[in-house]
Amino acid sequence: MPSQPLLQALVPCPTGPLQVPLEGPPQSAGRGEAGVGLGRDRPLDLSLVIPTYNEAANVAVLVEQLTQLLEGVMPHRYELILVDDDSPDRTWKTALGLTPTYPQLRVMRRRTERGLSSAVIRGWQVARGQILAVIDADLQHPPQVLTDLLAAMHQGADLAVASRHVTGGGVSDWNLARRLLSRGAQTLGLLLLPQVVGRVSDPMSGYFMVQRRAIAGPILNPKGYKILLEVLGRGKVHTIAEVGYVFQERQQGASKVTWRQYVDYMHHLLRLRLGGRISQVHQRFPLKRFVRFGLVGLSGVVVDMAMLYLLHGSLGLPLTRSKIVAAEVAIINNFIWNDAWTFADVSLQQRGWSARLKRFLKFNLICLAGLVLNVLVLNGVYNLVFGQRWAYLANLIAIAVVTFWNFWLNLKLSWRVTQIK
Ligand code: GDD
Ligand code: MN
Repeated sequence: MPSQPLLQALVPCPTGPLQVPLEGPPQSAGRGEAGVGLGRDRPLDLSLVIPTYNEAANVAVLVEQLTQLLEGVMPHRYELILVDDDSPDRTWKTALGLTPTYPQLRVMRRRTERGLSSAVIRGWQVARGQILAVIDADLQHPPQVLTDLLAAMHQGADLAVASRHVTGGGVSDWNLARRLLSRGAQTLGLLLLPQVVGRVSDPMSGYFMVQRRAIAGPILNPKGYKILLEVLGRGKVHTIAEVGYVFQERQQGASKVTWRQYVDYMHHLLRLRLGGRISQVHQRFPLKRFVRFGLVGLSGVVVDMAMLYLLHGSLGLPLTRSKIVAAEVAIINNFIWNDAWTFADVSLQQRGWSARLKRFLKFNLICLAGLVLNVLVLNGVYNLVFGQRWAYLANLIAIAVVTFWNFWLNLKLSWRVTQIK
């Protein structure tokens, strides 16, 4: 049983609603409080929450790296708040043992609640900094990215996200299945909650900073792993910065992600979608880009028709095969124009054939999925809505629906390429 003084050094767990206060709690001289003896009356700039479950093998290395980095950037103006869910490996006790060496480290041991997202918010509830942040304990989130995130916050961002899906981002060793799962979850989110999930390139990120004023007030109700969704969905976030980082291999311990996190994610999406109270931060619809995308799409129709006439009409090849080739040639035509015109500003930042090939493969995948959607909408409208009449009007509606689908998903996925350093 830990000694009494040790237990007193634990930060009391907040209870009640998951609501971040507009002002941090007053600097108290209580033990285990950051800044003891270090000019407690001064506000802190940054409160970095480290959610842990069975991370005893990682915390010492992480705290050392974070301290080295932050002491150089903002000496004594930051705190580390480790929130442990009563880990079987007693991560909380290991962390407590570090507090004499690292006075800016505060440790919370939760015994009645569990879960990554709520752990982060409970940490933010006891935080004193004006900037609230979260980082994983297992060194998969490189600490040095904090300086880039801080720079973005000091330049006025409400939210700065470490993203795997912008220039300089990537994942070190994920297998194809995990990549597809992560991208699939993101696509689902883009379809269910475009105004939330579509605001950042890596909505699954668990590594970010947010201004306290942007997240204080609303009662948060996250589920599972995706705390960033809750911040985007319920916070007052206007300006977002993204910093590319490469998600590292885990050194010690194991990931706690199971199928349950994906179920929680779906549940969370639906709750945000149906539960309303999504903060309406208006982003202008990229109309100019959409018009260009539509014009390129029209050129694709011309290419498709011309190819169909050439292959089937004059060379006499079978209709289906001719159509497949014509559709693919039209997709290539559309990619070339979109990459060089519609999204030129984005593709110019991501030069190189491998980046271009990645954009093309994503574009192709989305357009082929759009083809399936086209057939489904066409048949749905023609057979169920129009009672097997007005086939061409039904086709026009299908084309319009798919144009939005193609535009929105390409905007959010294709022209943001993951580049492994
Ligand atoms: N307090 C607490 N309670 N912490 C938890 C819990 C929990 O129930 N479950 C996991 N954690 C902590 C882990 O100890 C680790 O520090 C961090 O949350 C991430 O958990 P991992 O199990 O390592 O997740 P991952 O590496 O598969 O995915 C992480 O990175 C992704 C990319 O940023 C998570 O942060 C994902 O949310 C994120 O999408
Ligand atoms: Mn991890």
